Amino acid sequence: MSRSSGQKTDKTTEKAGKAAKCIAFANHKGGTGKTSSCVSIAGHLADNGYRVLVVDFDPGANATSALGIDAATVERSIYDAILGECDSYERVPLTEVILETSVENLHVAPSELDLAAAEALMLHARRRPYALNRILGEVRPLYDYILIDLPPNPGLLTINGLCAADQVVVPMDPSIFSLEALENMRLILDDVRRIAGHSISEVTVVLNRYVKRSIVSRLLSRRSPSQEIEATLTQMFDSVFVVPESTDIFETQRQGVPISHHAPQSRVGRAYAEIANSISANSEQKSHSSRQTE
Ligand SMILES: Nc1ncnc2c1ncn2[C@@H]1O[C@H](COP(=O)(O)OP(=O)(O)O)[C@@H](O)[C@H]1O
Ligand SMILES: [Mg+2]
Repeated sequence: MSRSSGQKTDKTTEKAGKAAKCIAFANHKGGTGKTSSCVSIAGHLADNGYRVLVVDFDPGANATSALGIDAATVERSIYDAILGECDSYERVPLTEVILETSVENLHVAPSELDLAAAEALMLHARRRPYALNRILGEVRPLYDYILIDLPPNPGLLTINGLCAADQVVVPMDPSIFSLEALENMRLILDDVRRIAGHSISEVTVVLNRYVKRSIVSRLLSRRSPSQEIEATLTQMFDSVFVVPESTDIFETQRQGVPISHHAPQSRVGRAYAEIANSISANSEQKSHSSRQTE
């Protein structure tokens, strides 16, 4: 496994552009593929020439390590920048936290285990649901996309991620419990709308670890659990994608690079390329129609 401590970025040489689109990867159920989806889509967007920042907002720091950076060697993390939002702590600009990865155009604001304490300290932050949104403000003009990987709980870190987001991607696994979690996700989005007044209209569901019908169920004309859940989801949401179950995910995470740079032609690689292309096509279309109405 190749792991580095990451190189600091030189933001002074970067050109300022239009503000980045912020996409949160959320589902309070653990192990549904939030981190895998975030890093995979980030890799494809970067490969397509977009400037991409992954914000690892989970104390587990899995996105940090999936991008080849050893969280134990990180000098400053997103935690330091968040603390700056609390009274009596020194302000650390996010630009001092961001690291380059081995992938061109792809940067990461790394996490560390201490981020768990940030959740408690954030209770003292000014306008606390918006602490992350505020610290992202200064780097938004430097990127096309900011992808926020959220933890598996509906606490303050998740609320902060959703309050900073223009779009939410909800990865889920093909289980009945996942459908229940999805219903709760809708309630959390309603809470964010009600409490913080922030409304996210774009919701994309990624049905991960998708398994097609077995030969036996095909003979019996029976759908697999994945296919049953997919059918339910397509009635509930406009934007539903499937990503197959594959050991390529394990291998790419072991290598510390996104699937776009490990096995782009694998089934998982192509599934995530399709999602990344759809995200960028929608954004381009939106910015085109907003330019026309100006
Ligand atoms: N499509 C997939 N096929 C096989 N394993 C997967 C797939 N997606 C994710 N995994 C594995 O499932 C586990 C949980 O995925 P992860 O992305 O960490 O979920 P979360 O961030 O929601 O907790 C990880 O070990 C990951 O390698
Ligand atoms: Mg995760």
